[in-house]
Amino acid sequence: MHVLITGGVGYLGSWVTYELLKKGHKVRIYDRLCFGKPEKAEWLSHPNVELIEGDIRYWQKYPDLFNSIDVVIHLAGLANDPSCALCPITAKEVNTASTVELARQSSQKGVKKFIFASTCAVYGKGVGDWLDEESPTNPWSMFAQTKNESEKIVLSLGHNQFSPVIARLSTLFGYSPRMRFDLALNLMTAMAKTQGTIEVHGGGQQWRPFLHVRDCARAICILTEAEQSMVHNEIFNIGANELNKRILDLANEVASLIPDTKVEILKEDEDWRTFRVLFNKFASRFSFQPEYKIYDGVQEILNWFHQNPSEEPFSEKYINVFRFKQLKTIPVSEGGEPTAPRFIPLAKPILGKEEETAILQAIRSGWLTSGDKINAFERMFASTVGAKEAVAVSSCTSAIHLCLVEAGVKAGDEVITPPITWVSTINTILNMGAKPVFVDVDPITFNINPELIEEKITKKTKVIIPVDLAGHPCELEAIQNIAERYNLHLIEDSAHALGATYHSKPIGSISERTCFSFYATKNITTIEGGMITLSDPEKARMLRILATNGLTDTAWDRYGRSAFYRPQELVSAGFKYAMSNVSASIGVEQIKKLSTFNSVRQRLVQRYYYSLSDIDEIILPKTKEHVQHAWHLFIIRLDTKKIGKSRDEIAFMLRQENIGTGIHFYGVHLHPYIQQQCNVSPESCPVATQISNEILSLPLHPELTEENIQYIVDALKKVIYYAKH
Ligand SMILES: Cc1ncc(COP(=O)(O)O)c(C=O)c1O
Repeated sequence: MHVLITGGVGYLGSWVTYELLKKGHKVRIYDRLCFGKPEKAEWLSHPNVELIEGDIRYWQKYPDLFNSIDVVIHLAGLANDPSCALCPITAKEVNTASTVELARQSSQKGVKKFIFASTCAVYGKGVGDWLDEESPTNPWSMFAQTKNESEKIVLSLGHNQFSPVIARLSTLFGYSPRMRFDLALNLMTAMAKTQGTIEVHGGGQQWRPFLHVRDCARAICILTEAEQSMVHNEIFNIGANELNKRILDLANEVASLIPDTKVEILKEDEDWRTFRVLFNKFASRFSFQPEYKIYDGVQEILNWFHQNPSEEPFSEKYINVFRFKQLKTIPVSEGGEPTAPRFIPLAKPILGKEEETAILQAIRSGWLTSGDKINAFERMFASTVGAKEAVAVSSCTSAIHLCLVEAGVKAGDEVITPPITWVSTINTILNMGAKPVFVDVDPITFNINPELIEEKITKKTKVIIPVDLAGHPCELEAIQNIAERYNLHLIEDSAHALGATYHSKPIGSISERTCFSFYATKNITTIEGGMITLSDPEKARMLRILATNGLTDTAWDRYGRSAFYRPQELVSAGFKYAMSNVSASIGVEQIKKLSTFNSVRQRLVQRYYYSLSDIDEIILPKTKEHVQHAWHLFIIRLDTKKIGKSRDEIAFMLRQENIGTGIHFYGVHLHPYIQQQCNVSPESCPVATQISNEILSLPLHPELTEENIQYIVDALKKVIYYAKH
């Protein structure tokens, strides 16, 4: 038979592999090797053994894993209570989600039998004196819960060609080439040997079934070879009736075998987990009898001490929970565990019941594109930012484009803009046949440097587009002065800056035209959407016309309840850029939440400052005194020289730690296409060029928790530390 065994170099797995080889089977081992490869298991180099190093969570990396496999023995997982209690999310992911996924794959890939190593701990606070496979389970720990849950799902996957088998294992003991000292008997023997006292936790009256690891390996081998009909969709308790012991009795038995050993019952809470298990089903069906006794286990452990006099048994190498704690401090790239158990995204749209109801109402009204919600949203928005006019459009990109058209920009004109911006700002200029002229950015705020604007103004210059990067307003006063002096139009790209103020005036109420974005990740969202605010009603009227194909009326104007029908007039070559009524209905609800969203962002940013300020390799963003930041993004700058790794390498390592990051932005002037089109070089904007490879946006959104921030900070510290060493 060809057997795939997960955890095949583990405490039990090493012996299972040994037994399988002895019987002439071919074995493919899939194991993370997080305790290294056991030196004393020479059979792991047998020609019938193929060893694949990998984690059960990431089996997809090995698409051929199940090829030609008849039986899967799934042993890998977080193997005891303390390891699972460390992080329940990881416990569920490793023990349940991955198990279910492996079983599904096995079934799909033609594997005939899937033996799942569960635990008698699923009986937990045992319901009844003696527990057999028919007894109700009552898992009492995270470990037992994850196993119990997996059992149920794995069994539900059984069908004619695919037989799940559940092996509920006793607590194992004895020697294995991959030793463990966190198993009761091994631990007690080690305590007796090293300190002369066996400490008994949880009162000592609790029952547990025990089994020697080699007997268990033999039992697994029996299940592997058993006829399908003997094991199909069956649960088997694996152990021996006579090896059920009260913990205190076990301690006394071990103590009796090691001279001068005391037994001490620690005064602490009673251990609720007590289960005395019957093993008749497996014993009678397969005539199974254990070969090893408690005595044998103790002698083996004593022998281990004899052979390894300088080894420390209570170390990461032998105690699972210590090793998992240690793995958390090691980057994933070095074989460690991710700092954050779940992926923390850079940004996240926050939509609630209110938005859901609003969308439904808009859909049911039949007014999907134009409609009354647009006007309502425009009015609410204008009043929020203190603007006289607000024109809702399909995106901030279309907002900028419309403003350029309305400002009369023609082919060959020049438009001044910073290179640290989203490509939309530049694309809109290029698409009009105009030329973007890049002005370098301020090294503190990364916004356009007003002192460098004038030298770039020519006769062809028509417009300045400053960008309020991350939500920090530009130096609008200086920029406005220049615009007035040279008779230039000003289109402020405030895609990030909704809620920001400049000298106490809200962004949206200052520039001749201000463009906002409601893209999914912005401070508020309409899924896609944008807004232009301005003070001139005539310009606003023209922008509306341009946004609706150059027509004077929308469908709502023509056919709405209060419409007065008249032929519509085409007054300009327009665009189809108006916001939809469904989007506006979301906007109406989102704008009500803006101040709450922004104050949460503000609070989270304070947490970042508090936790990151002592990291020398990071430069934190600075806010000018006369502005209020909208904190759309939290952009840090990495001192890559001190760190010794590139920003992209750090971002990749953080991704492995389950932390999403972003780059806002890689200088547009660095794209070869733009260099060709606009005749720019990296040297033309040296600050932008340098920061393009140093800036990194950390996650920031209103549902980010303080715990998330702690994970992000820990991950940053971890990857920077490792990068430097
Ligand atoms: C600075 C900047 N300008 C313009 C835009 C375009 O916004 P939209 O996606 O709404 O078109 C973005 C989008 O992220 C942006 O970051």
